[in-house]
Amino acid sequence: MNERDSEIISQSLAQHDYIETIEMDSADLIILNTCSIRAKAEQKVMSLLGYLRKNKKRNPSLKICVAGCVAQQLGNSIVERMPHVNLVLGTQHIYALPDILETSVNVSQVYTSLSSDYDIPRFIPKGDEDLQSKSSSIDKNRALSRFVTIMQGCNNYCTYCVVPYTRGREVSRKFNDIIDEIKALVDKGVEEFTLLGQNVNSYGQTNNVREDGTPCSFPQLLRAVAAIQGVIRLRFTTSNPKDLSDDLMRCFRDLENLCPQFHLPVQSGSNNVLKRMNRKYTVEKYKELVAALRGYCPAIAVTTDIIVGFPGETEGDFEKTMDLLETVRFDGSFSFKYSDRPGTASLNLNNKVPEEEKSRRLYRYQERQNEISLENNSRYIGKILKVTVEASEEQTNEEYTYKCRALTNHVVHTLSNAEIFPGQTISVEIQQAGQHSLKGKIVDIPKK
Ligand code: 5AD
Ligand code: SF4
Repeated sequence: MNERDSEIISQSLAQHDYIETIEMDSADLIILNTCSIRAKAEQKVMSLLGYLRKNKKRNPSLKICVAGCVAQQLGNSIVERMPHVNLVLGTQHIYALPDILETSVNVSQVYTSLSSDYDIPRFIPKGDEDLQSKSSSIDKNRALSRFVTIMQGCNNYCTYCVVPYTRGREVSRKFNDIIDEIKALVDKGVEEFTLLGQNVNSYGQTNNVREDGTPCSFPQLLRAVAAIQGVIRLRFTTSNPKDLSDDLMRCFRDLENLCPQFHLPVQSGSNNVLKRMNRKYTVEKYKELVAALRGYCPAIAVTTDIIVGFPGETEGDFEKTMDLLETVRFDGSFSFKYSDRPGTASLNLNNKVPEEEKSRRLYRYQERQNEISLENNSRYIGKILKVTVEASEEQTNEEYTYKCRALTNHVVHTLSNAEIFPGQTISVEIQQAGQHSLKGKIVDIPKK
């Protein structure tokens, strides 16, 4: 979501004739788009801002802007601590950046209001700003692949999570705006779309998304997007298990262009911990969901998010997370040590788990996940996968290594002496499996 916000910032400034540079020291305007999901991300922003003091001394007309979740959360206190910051831009204000820059930002300005009836602005770049190859914030590796925001904010209030406070109340984007943006990108040659929201399952639940006021669920939106001519690959993230419907799972059986990949954050394998996290599902329910998903789509790759060391997590609770990993055998996990965040309910819970213990649990979880990933990945050896080229990596003798992406979202490396391009779809026979990627040889380069 942050990446997409950075793209929006970059695209909207490009439309106002700003030119992007990757050399921070030569920039007249520096924007830090920030994340505050864990304390570490926030600390990085503060140390970079400290470092930028000397850039400001060297070039007093330099403008420094902090955008995103840290901006939203710390607001005025950023300029109090860092007076060289010109602009603090909260999460509902990024679309207004070009207009704000037109006004004087010689005095520090702070925009952090969060409206409960915020509407995600309609923003469809007119030119080729969204495909500019010189742009550094639009990932060149995703040549023909784009993120599309479908909602913002979250009403779930998981007790550890800062998102409801930094991104505000949940709001779904207008159905037609989403469809129009995707059609405009298809016209420019984009083939792959990832629909983005904190909790896509509740799309259309909290506000009207259709002009005529009729309801629209996430599976309905997904089917409509999948039906757009030219949408070759479709993905989405993130889905909360508590309201994952059978209708959504059936989409994996019915929609040919929906990629067989599901990111379903479980957070913990202990019902006690899930309860204190306010996740509103049980481990048993979670396992049923994964079984149903695999029933509808046996090839599906399932990944998850895990927090170890939530306040009060006992050794027994953690063992239950390890048990869940053994039963579900995730294809991959993003796993984190619990981190106290300001304003969240878990901040005030007792029985915080010591740092060394969190590290020990994280290490154990990740080691076992790595083994399982390797075992799961080995099943692909000898199989032929359709993959999309993302980037050329390095040249060895006459051959190039290419980084590609499988439909299941696995990274696949391949060697080729033939010319292939980012965005192209090829067939690769898998020869080797690693913990985090696969390797293989090209067996077919289909002609367009
Ligand atoms: N501490 C550790 N991890 C967290 N996440 C969210 N909040 C915290 C926190 N306070 C993790 C969750 C979420 C992912 C995006 O970040 O696992 O799914
Ligand atoms: Fe945070 Fe929970 Fe909302 Fe996800 S569902 S953004 S973890 S509050």
